[in-house]
Amino acid sequence: MTATTPPPTARLLVTGAGGQVGRELIRLAPRARGYGRTDLDITDADAVRAVVAPGDVVINCAAYTAVDRAESEPDAAFAGNETGPAVLAAACARAGARLIHLSTDYVFPGTHDRPYDTDDVTGPTTVYGRSKLAGERAVLDLAPDSQVVRTAWVYRGRGGDFVATMLRLERERETVDVVDDQLGSPTYAVDLAAGLLELAARPDTPRLLHATNRGQATWFELARAVFMEVGADPDRVRPCDSTAYPRAARRPAYSVLSDRSWIAAGLSPLRPWRDAVTAALSASA
Ligand SMILES: NC(=O)c1ccc[n+]([C@@H]2O[C@H](COP(=O)([O-])OP(=O)(O)OC[C@H]3O[C@@H](n4cnc5c(N)ncnc54)[C@H](OP(=O)(O)O)[C@@H]3O)[C@@H](O)[C@H]2O)c1
Repeated sequence: MTATTPPPTARLLVTGAGGQVGRELIRLAPRARGYGRTDLDITDADAVRAVVAPGDVVINCAAYTAVDRAESEPDAAFAGNETGPAVLAAACARAGARLIHLSTDYVFPGTHDRPYDTDDVTGPTTVYGRSKLAGERAVLDLAPDSQVVRTAWVYRGRGGDFVATMLRLERERETVDVVDDQLGSPTYAVDLAAGLLELAARPDTPRLLHATNRGQATWFELARAVFMEVGADPDRVRPCDSTAYPRAARRPAYSVLSDRSWIAAGLSPLRPWRDAVTAALSASA
């Protein structure tokens, strides 16, 4: 996939550049200015104002993403996911910069049986989801030139993400039990980053968009795909339900995102999730 970059006159800034999506953005757009957490805390209004200039395009990948821990740390979750985006939005509005902000499928309650569209009613069931929804609203309210892009189930196939964990467990265990009662949109960080760069070059797009790899899967199906990709027997992955893995934050049972708005805006669809797993594993081999 070829990444399109913003017009040469616009500076591209990436906040949260040390995270999964931020790293891939910087890899695909090496001339972008990346700010990791230690370079720029997005809740620090003076520091944020000092880096944003007129005409900039800021892609905010910084977030508090510890979904379970958020249940016991709501203040930290809202600081990272509401206050930080609000600070960025205010700074962008003041400077005359554009803000592209990432959000999540977890803003939805998970009760649908068809993909969630951008105009569907939200209703987060977790502190993380509520904090992200508050951040969406702050961005859209405070920065006239801003967009919110919801994505889901992001992985790179590295570090401790789900795909990397399945690769490790394939080597360590004979069988692995994986939940089969949550449906979502697994999304390869590289594909998402390429989509965000295409969006950054297109100011004339709707303010709320969904960007995920196409199709839907359960965690069980994603785990089986990982096993297949490395030539392991996918039947070593066994389905179980969420009660086998009690978590502090109850995940939505169904949080598939529709890319209708993304396609309608003339943006390139992200490839099907299964093809993306193949690409991710050949890249991480
Ligand atoms: N990962 C997913 O499955 C998923 C799904 C749906 C939506 N999203 C959204 O996609 C975006 C990117 O997610 P990701 O997977 O790349 O997350 P990630 O890997 O957890 O990266 C987030 C980065 O933000 C940094 N950060 C946290 N608070 C900050 C602050 N106040 N100032 C500056 N940086 C801060 C983190 O630093 P530390 O590590 O030091 O805290 C981390 O480097 C987020 O908005 C997330 O909500 C992710």
